[in-house]
Amino acid sequence: MEEYISIKQAIEQKSGNVNLHGWVYRERGSNNMKFIVLRDSSNIIQCVLKKEDFEDLWDQIDKLKIESSVEISGEIYEDKRAPTGYEVKVKKMNIVHVAEDYPINKDLNEELLGDRRHLWIRSRKMTAILKIRSTVLQAMREHWINKGFYEYHSPEILSSSCEGGSTLFKLDYYGKPAYLSQTWQLHAEPAIFALEKIFTIQPAFRAEKSKTSRHLSELWMAEMEVAWAKFDKLQDDAEELIKDVVRRVVENNKEDLELIGRDISKLKPTLEKKFPRITYTDALRMLKEQCGMEIEWGKDLRTIEEDKLSSLFDTPVIVTGYPKGVKAFYMKEPEEHPKEGKVVLGFDIVGPEGYGELVGGSQREERLDIIRENLVKEGENLDNYEFYFDTRRYGSVPHGGYGMGVERIISWVCGLDTIKDAIAFPRTITRLSP
Ligand code: 4AD
Repeated sequence: MEEYISIKQAIEQKSGNVNLHGWVYRERGSNNMKFIVLRDSSNIIQCVLKKEDFEDLWDQIDKLKIESSVEISGEIYEDKRAPTGYEVKVKKMNIVHVAEDYPINKDLNEELLGDRRHLWIRSRKMTAILKIRSTVLQAMREHWINKGFYEYHSPEILSSSCEGGSTLFKLDYYGKPAYLSQTWQLHAEPAIFALEKIFTIQPAFRAEKSKTSRHLSELWMAEMEVAWAKFDKLQDDAEELIKDVVRRVVENNKEDLELIGRDISKLKPTLEKKFPRITYTDALRMLKEQCGMEIEWGKDLRTIEEDKLSSLFDTPVIVTGYPKGVKAFYMKEPEEHPKEGKVVLGFDIVGPEGYGELVGGSQREERLDIIRENLVKEGENLDNYEFYFDTRRYGSVPHGGYGMGVERIISWVCGLDTIKDAIAFPRTITRLSP
């Protein structure tokens, strides 16, 4: 057969002959007719085959099961009753592979679908989400490239922790202890002295020991780090990045969002409004006054409190001024602290609709004595951080950055029930295969 086009292109062509290849998505038949809904990466289309046109092949066509792969040639025309408004009258068919009984049906629960994940990613829902994921990553990359950032990568196997020991994955590195990276940060900060403005989109690992709808053990993190950074400029960039990602998905993936049932109007305020910026102390006051939740100053916000807070806004909200005690060792202390207690120049961006923390970032502490003190308090061995301390010994400059959870953003943009669907093969406390 000649050249193949996608189902999407065929529908755009509207009439005439088309050559398509794909997989049997649905099939039904009668004595003399067979209806096959064909699927490819772009869309689905109903195909009609008449027995009289396929005398030799009819037996095989009649028995075709879903997910069999085929090549067809036929005439496309509008038919309002067909699932995507067009139909192909098939004149020629080549059966590429006859599938066995497909082990996925409507009755499978989440666990069984997880076991068959390698097949489930072919579903229209997962295909749509994976396309949106591709757009999200492209938008992130372009956001930073357009601002003159360099793409830079850090190692994934480390000798020390950056975000505390409780979520570290330990491994045996030729007889020595090593850890999977929780963030690029320790190896990103040294690189700003070479490149000044850097970003990455790469995996990060967190041994999250509880089952939640927003935690993965292997996630992708989009991170940036800049020399000469100003705290508010870091927040500006994160806000712009979120807007760029949402705008790009709404522009490029309208059909995918519709297919997965996302109410696109919920994303509009994010594009149109400036994100509110509040302090942790403001957040506690709002939670008390508007939600009746009393939280002691100094305690971290728990999921339930973050969710309540997010329900007060229709855009992401930027929270600064967190107590020093709940944040990482590298966050800078400001010149002055509020009366309630010591804070750091860190910020979280909490997503709307209860999607939790999308971004965590900070101005970095430059004073080596404070960094050392913080690490000792956390029980860390300072020897492991000697290389990092050099960033404060040779030409130290104000700097900062943030990390955005790629799957958290996808989860929110798509309106997913679980973060697991934001990645093809999720890794969680209960899932390591396939
Ligand atoms: O707030 P976090 O822990 O920040 C850092 O790791 C910084 N070192 C980043 C930096 O400044 N370069 O994590 C950043 C983001 C969170 O806001 C969240 O969106 C996501 O990473 N994240 C997770 N996403 C899914 N599953 C998990 N287990 C996650 N842990 C963090």
